[in-house]
Amino acid sequence: MTERLTIRRPDDWHVHLRDGAMLQAVAAHTARQFARAIIMPNLTPPVTDAAAARAYRDRIVAALPAGCDFTPLMTCYLTDGADADAIAVGHAEGVFTACKLYPAHATTNSAHGVTGIFALAPVLERMQAIGMPLLIHGEVTDRDVDIFDREAVFIDRTLQRLVRDFPALRIVLEHITTADAADYVTAAPDTVAATITPQHLIINRNAIFDGGLRPHAYCLPVAKRERHRLAVRAAAVSGSPKFFLGTDSAPHVVGAKESGCGCAGIFNAPFALESYLSVFEAEGALDRFEGFASEHGARFYGLPLNTGTVTLERVATPVPALVGEGDTAVVPFHAGETLEWQLVA
Ligand code: NCD
Ligand code: ZN
Repeated sequence: MTERLTIRRPDDWHVHLRDGAMLQAVAAHTARQFARAIIMPNLTPPVTDAAAARAYRDRIVAALPAGCDFTPLMTCYLTDGADADAIAVGHAEGVFTACKLYPAHATTNSAHGVTGIFALAPVLERMQAIGMPLLIHGEVTDRDVDIFDREAVFIDRTLQRLVRDFPALRIVLEHITTADAADYVTAAPDTVAATITPQHLIINRNAIFDGGLRPHAYCLPVAKRERHRLAVRAAAVSGSPKFFLGTDSAPHVVGAKESGCGCAGIFNAPFALESYLSVFEAEGALDRFEGFASEHGARFYGLPLNTGTVTLERVATPVPALVGEGDTAVVPFHAGETLEWQLVA
C-alpha cells in the first residue's frame, strides 16, 4: 500500500475566497494547499475592472500568513456592459488571467451576470485573439428547466454554439456535474476543458436529502444522480488533460446555510487535496493524481508548471465539525468524517 505520495505543487483552478473577515479566515487554507488559485470575482459588488481586481488581489495577499508562497490569479466578472478594450488592457497588465461568465441569477452573487452571452461577441473575439480563457458557470437560468437539467441544457443551447462561433477561444466549463458535461468536454476540441470539485466526485444528490434536508451538501451546480457522479469520476481519473482540479470552495457562514433559504456553496478548502486523493486511490489512479492536480490546468492556461512538491501521508485525519470561530465559522466538507490522507505541513 502506498503510504506517502509526493507530487508537484498543485493549483486550484476555481475558488471563492470572499472578502473582509471571511477572506481573513479562509485564505490560509487555500494557500496551505495550493501554489496558485483562480479567484472567482463574485463579490458584492463583483470584480468587473482591473482596478478592483488589483485592490482585491492586494487584500488577498495581505490576508495570507507571513512568508507564504501563494499567487492569486484574478478573474474579471463579465456583465452585459463588459468592454473588450478594458479587459484586454487588464490582461496585458497581468491583472486578469481569465474572464468568468455567470449567466444572470445562476448562483450566489450573479445578479449582475450576463443576460445574453452572444451579445458579448466583441469581448469574446478579443479574448480569443489574446489567448485569454473564458470560464463558464454552465447552467441555464430558465426557471422552466428542471434544476437537475440546467447544465445539460446549457451545453445544448449555449456552449455548443460558443465553441462553434469562437473556435480558438479557450473555454473552461467550471465544476462539471453530469455525464453530459463529461462526454461533451471529452469529445470537444482541445480548446475546451473542465474543472471538477471534490464534492461532485464524492456525493450524489441523495446526500442533500439524507434523513432530512442537508444544507451543507448543497452547492451549485447541484449534485446529480449516481450515474452522473460516476461519469464525472471517470473523467477526473482518466488522465485526460482536459480535466483538472478546481475546488469551487465556497464558504458561507453557518447561519446563511442553515436557513429558510440557504446559500449554495460547499467549503472544502481545508482538506481539498486529502479529499481528491481519496477518490484517486479508490479508483486505482494514484499515478494520475499529479496530472489532475498539478499539470493539466497550468498547461491549459498556458502557465508554467509549479516547481517544488507537496507530500501527502496515509494518516487518519479527523475533519472538525466547524472551521474557524465566531462570525466566520464554516462547516467544512466531510465535517465529522475521518479522511485517510494528510497533507504534510
Ligand atoms: C458559489 C458561491 O457561493 O459563490 N456557490 C456554489 O454553490 N458553488 C458560486 C458558484 O460557483 O456557483
Ligand atoms: Zn464557484
